[in-house]
Amino acid sequence: MKLIRNTKAILVVAFFTTNLGAVFAAPPDAVAGKAKAQMCFACHGENGISSSAEIPNLATQPSLSITYQLIQFRGQQRKGGGMEGISMALSDQDMRDIAAYYSALPPPPAKSGNPEKITKGAQISSTQYCNSCHGAQLQGQKHIARLAGQSPEYLVTQLKNIRSGSRIDMDGTMGSAARGLSDEDIEALAAYAASLN
Ligand code: HEC
Ligand code: HEC
Repeated sequence: MKLIRNTKAILVVAFFTTNLGAVFAAPPDAVAGKAKAQMCFACHGENGISSSAEIPNLATQPSLSITYQLIQFRGQQRKGGGMEGISMALSDQDMRDIAAYYSALPPPPAKSGNPEKITKGAQISSTQYCNSCHGAQLQGQKHIARLAGQSPEYLVTQLKNIRSGSRIDMDGTMGSAARGLSDEDIEALAAYAASLN
């Protein structure tokens, strides 16, 4: 009889701890995130500045944007750069911790570029409302990516992939924004975004 009561008590405690654990996830921890991000440094840099033009900078990228992209890679909705394999080992908590680490780093430096392209890009960013979602200085917000100081080659690739539909975005808003852009528009927008800090 006593044994049965104790077993019940243990089951009740176990029930509450598992459910509370699911509701109250640990807050994002940038220090733990740095340790977990060691395997990312070779490509994305310890300072969040990437080692090649095809690899995006992650420094100052909004944490929610990093987390959502990792979730999309892990779910195989987005593929590229081997990220769909790399993200499979990450738990939700790992993603939040790593995102907290990278988002708190100083932004990548502004890149110089062709002044005509940059001016044209600034105009398109305003007439096509890129800045109404990505921020006045394309600094990103919430789940919307930071474009400022990003590698222009990376931005061109992503815009073409989103335009063609080979990269599917989570709610379709970015797909509609990219659909009407010409190759020249994309080059200009990438040069403009890269020139911002
Ligand atoms: C072998 C190089 C490599 C490694 C290692 C790597 N990445 Fe990536 N990562 C890339 C490339 C390349 C892309 C661009 C993929 C594409 O073209 O869509 C990318 C894209 C991303 C993006 C999307 C950024 C955006 O602006 O949309 C995030 C977030 C990211 N990586 C996080 C990580 C994290 C976190 C790790 C470590 C757990 C990691 N990566 C390890 C190469 C790498
Ligand atoms: C209605 C809001 C909205 C508008 C307008 C918008 N975007 Fe986006 N953009 C997003 C969202 C949301 C994402 C993330 C999409 C995803 O992967 O699910 C995104 C992603 C991107 C990316 C990929 C970034 C990365 O790091 O991988 C680029 C590049 C981009 N947008 C450029 C632009 C440009 C250029 C314009 C204007 C022509 C524009 N966006 C207009 C919401 C918007």
